[in-house]
Amino acid sequence: MKETQLIELLNDMSLEEKVMQLVQAPGGLFDDNAAITGIADVNNSNAIKYKIGSTLSIWGEEKLKKIQQEYMEKQPHHIPILFMLDVINGHKTVFPCPLAQGATFDPELVKEGAQAAALESAADGIHVTFSPMADLSRDARWGRVMESTGEDPYLNGIMAAAMTEGYQGELKDNAIDENHVAACVKHFAAYGGAVAGRDYNNVELSEYALRDQYLPAYQKAIDAGAKMVMTSFNTLDGIPSSGNKRLMNEILRKDMGFDGVLISDWGAVGEMVNHGYAQDLSDAAYKGIKAGVDIDMCSDSYPKNLEKLVNDGMISMEELDKCVYRVLKLKNELGLFENPNRSSKEKADSVLLCEKHRALARKAVAKSLVLLKNDEEILPLKADKIAFIGPYIEGEDIRSAWSVSTDDKDNVSIREGAVKAFEGSGTEIRFAKGCTVLDNDSLLTRDSFHIDNWEETNAELLEEALETAKWADVVVMCLGEHTFQSGECTSRTNITLSLIQQKLLNAVAEVNSNIVSLIMEGRPIELGMVCELSKAVMITWFPGTEGGNGILDVITGRALPEGRLPMSFPHSVGQEPLNYNSFKTGRPKPATGNGDFTSRYLDSPNTPLFAFGYGLTYTTFEYSEVSLDKSQMSSQDKITATARIKNTGKCEGTETVQLYLCDVSGSRVRPVKELKGFKKVSLKAGEEATVSFEICEAMLRFWTDENKFASEKGQFICYIGPDSATTNSALFELR
Ligand code: GLC
Repeated sequence: MKETQLIELLNDMSLEEKVMQLVQAPGGLFDDNAAITGIADVNNSNAIKYKIGSTLSIWGEEKLKKIQQEYMEKQPHHIPILFMLDVINGHKTVFPCPLAQGATFDPELVKEGAQAAALESAADGIHVTFSPMADLSRDARWGRVMESTGEDPYLNGIMAAAMTEGYQGELKDNAIDENHVAACVKHFAAYGGAVAGRDYNNVELSEYALRDQYLPAYQKAIDAGAKMVMTSFNTLDGIPSSGNKRLMNEILRKDMGFDGVLISDWGAVGEMVNHGYAQDLSDAAYKGIKAGVDIDMCSDSYPKNLEKLVNDGMISMEELDKCVYRVLKLKNELGLFENPNRSSKEKADSVLLCEKHRALARKAVAKSLVLLKNDEEILPLKADKIAFIGPYIEGEDIRSAWSVSTDDKDNVSIREGAVKAFEGSGTEIRFAKGCTVLDNDSLLTRDSFHIDNWEETNAELLEEALETAKWADVVVMCLGEHTFQSGECTSRTNITLSLIQQKLLNAVAEVNSNIVSLIMEGRPIELGMVCELSKAVMITWFPGTEGGNGILDVITGRALPEGRLPMSFPHSVGQEPLNYNSFKTGRPKPATGNGDFTSRYLDSPNTPLFAFGYGLTYTTFEYSEVSLDKSQMSSQDKITATARIKNTGKCEGTETVQLYLCDVSGSRVRPVKELKGFKKVSLKAGEEATVSFEICEAMLRFWTDENKFASEKGQFICYIGPDSATTNSALFELR
């Protein structure tokens, strides 16, 4: 539809019609099988069913086609409804969770995964995905780190842009074709900074931290063309995001240039009353509109109050029209007025869980795994008798908690992967579950995963596991968090394996020292005890549909590990929040000594157990010193930084070479180092290569004391190394 026609339509709509275009109600209104991803008991009145502008959490080509048909017949101007869904890491083919995708350090692969997710979800009737989540995540206590790509603004920005481009495809005249979906970048803003890592908590950030560290990744998604932004549950400066005029009108729309649809998170407009920021739902609706929130997701604020606010002149028709127009424009850019059902059964049948997507998911698993330890080169596996022990040898919940539209029966477990991998090899493999994932007193066990006779069950499982461990040459422990221990509303003050799993690992280690530990998880957990008892430790994250196959590909050597940590792994939760790009302080703790009167803990190192960017391969690499083609640059100049990388091991491998910069001093204090580039280089044993990075002035900019992004003259340190702990560096000056 042309813009003029859209304006005509808008002007012809009644006030009630306009208001209802700004209302999103749960998919449960239309379908009993709708996923519930928020507080379920809202907005379920049939009275609004054929009036709301959008719904969420239902999918299925035939089902949505029927709903759309009924809806458009009843909608006075036959305006199509928008179907939105949390397609977070795939639709029917589930990819590794976003934190695992961050660990790939491979934006092209992540973009391909998003393209596959868009193709599948669009074929299944979806128009908008609530992804990418670009929240900077530095606190492992916060369970939603699983949905992020980690603690670094640069990596997050690259991944958020890659996902956005994958979901939306090439935008021709701003249009999104029927093989793609609109992307919604979330949660704006700085939701990952929740105090104490407790979900939905307030966020206390300086303007400097907000602008310099927390906003850049959202900006990259907006620059990549994201059609929608979602508000966050938290407050900033004491104001809830969904009513924060400065954050939304000044920063998001003016400074960051976003002109698309702003949707609230589930219930967040109405929750301004709980925050103590709105007097009542009418006041919440008023504050939401004034902050430019176009769609009220699943709260009763807009549907029950907007009409009166306009009739009373509290909100002008012009203000309302702006919001409605943005929603109609999105529907138009999706082509819904001409083609309200962009999907077809044939296409859905041909793309959902297709072999091409499974193969891509399997490759993504392999590239996301992070090898943290590999003593005696126990990996890749080369034993005659191998035992797989632990609660994750089977069980389909190897996908993230945000895989709402998937069927677990489609997942490949580690057991299935192992049986296939060792078929006909002569290696004998055995399996023993060993224990339950959770302790009996965990909230999840009590509420949803109760096991009768839990003690007796685990006693039997343990006995069987020890017999199996005694038999084996090598034991592969398959341990980890429960899939519902990460994701929304899953903050933890204790980030260890469950006690029952620790007991199992200790018992197995008593009878067999050749242990490889695989850890399923959606966040960094404390791994000290696992590392002490295991010769090899590998992080598998929540790998999704092809988990068993991708993991076995790597531990048998069919694929090589190349993942790198997207978050620092602490010695203990007491170090959280923990991030490599921290400030120096006036009393930096020296590398040696106990650091009296310096910034330190009495009972823990400051450094992580495993650093951001860390990961092993099956070979080893050596770096030459960093060399710069010049030691001074002007703002018009560039410096080329290079290092030679040599494969000094016995097999090929892929190294993720990382560039970090440190601004030695500035008008605000600057991080000890910041990731500014990375390149993958694959080398055969003995091979060498030169890896170069161009350093330009734009890479040196930060949020200065003049409250703008700019570079400042002075000394910089350039690091090139295998992870954020590298000291391999050279100095240069910006003149
Ligand atoms: C949830 C989440 C958000 C999700 C939305 C819709 O509360 O915070 O990430 O996209 O509701 O499911």
